[in-house]
Amino acid sequence: MDGIRIRGGKPLSGRVRISGSKNAALPILCATLLSEGESLLRNVPDLRDIGTTGQLLATMGCIVDCAPPVVRVTARHVTPEAPYDLVKQMRASVLVLGPLVARFGKAKVSLPGGCQIGSRPVDQHLKGLEALGATIRTDHGYVLAEAPRLRGAEIVFDMPTVTGTENLMMAAALAKGRTTLVNSAREPEVIELARVLNKMGAKVQGAGTSVIEIEGQDELAPFDHAIIPDRIEAGTYLVAAAAAGGDVLVENVPVEDLEALISKMRGAGVILEPDGQGVRVVRTKPLRSVDVTTSPHPGFPTDMQAQFMVLMCLAEGTSRISETVFENRFMHVPELNRMGADIEVQGHTAFVRHAKRLDGTEVMATDLRASASLVIAGLVAEGETLVRRVYHLDRGYERMEAKLGALGADVARVQHVEG
Ligand code: UD1
Repeated sequence: MDGIRIRGGKPLSGRVRISGSKNAALPILCATLLSEGESLLRNVPDLRDIGTTGQLLATMGCIVDCAPPVVRVTARHVTPEAPYDLVKQMRASVLVLGPLVARFGKAKVSLPGGCQIGSRPVDQHLKGLEALGATIRTDHGYVLAEAPRLRGAEIVFDMPTVTGTENLMMAAALAKGRTTLVNSAREPEVIELARVLNKMGAKVQGAGTSVIEIEGQDELAPFDHAIIPDRIEAGTYLVAAAAAGGDVLVENVPVEDLEALISKMRGAGVILEPDGQGVRVVRTKPLRSVDVTTSPHPGFPTDMQAQFMVLMCLAEGTSRISETVFENRFMHVPELNRMGADIEVQGHTAFVRHAKRLDGTEVMATDLRASASLVIAGLVAEGETLVRRVYHLDRGYERMEAKLGALGADVARVQHVEG
């Protein structure tokens, strides 16, 4: 297993360009299942999760040419079965369920794995498909869904779920009649999927608000679409630059999708200036602590919580960071404390006190965003940090060591690290 070795203490400077969005690309790749023609995706990031999804589509019989930033998929002859081997690597594989049952009348999809951040059930996905007329059974770890033709319905989510909203938008796009999704997720990736479904001929309205209406079609056309930039990758580099200090231009940043993060960073004393298609980050003064509570978009993103916590370790005072989206998303805390951080978790809140300094050591990545936080901690720590199990990082960050290296960080990938 690979690791990342970082020699900390160097400020960052220069430019870094943000890649296409992983969480937008994954549902859009699954949307190719809705049409039998060849769809073309551009600006796709070169990540493990993209490769896994390409493999999953190919296993089901799609013709897949996966050469990021361009991916082509033709879903003509499809066996609607997603095996455990692939689904366990990535929870978002459940996104094939809606399109498969909508187009082929049945689907057999393994229950998902993915990051170990809480129990992360898929009950809302299943409840929604049942409301659209599917019969759902679970058997030996697989979901079996059947419906000769889905029918439009009103579905009220118990909580805004991103992939749940996306799965049901895709299913409803081929259902008979109108579907209304109430209490939908409002994330930019949901809006992006609606754009694609509309290109395919579906009539989707209201994406980005909590009520989405979908007029189902008998058939959908293939599409050609360039994916939006990754707001979480962008946020990660903004925080990395602020933590390490220096002067960095982060290019291709979807600023309007990052307002909650940018406003908290400014509150902490970081200078962030829009500059063309990018944002310039400068930190000259000591950081101040600010409190943060994660919530669904447009609130502070849970996917930035771990990285932001490192910034707060460096701030004067005590910051309260509350996680309300996932129940078990503080797994980076013991690792940060081993590096000299002073963080105490009480229930859903972490109290982050100023750490005089962080020390480099060996740490273990436990999920995707936790890995990114450990890399950022390594950038500011004294001495050498080795982040193990870096495969988590490779699921969601394109060439992170190269991008950080180009900004002047001393970062290298080390192969075959144990554990
Ligand atoms: C997506 C993102 C992930 C991000 C998360 C929250 C993708 C591929 N992944 O994950 O990076 O961290 O949104 O912004 O886009 N829930 C249920 N039942 C369900 C579905 C969800 O109880 O059927 C709960 C979850 O356990 C969680 C909350 O709802 O507590 C939100 O989860 P959800 O929005 O579904 O996350 P994902 O779509 O899996």
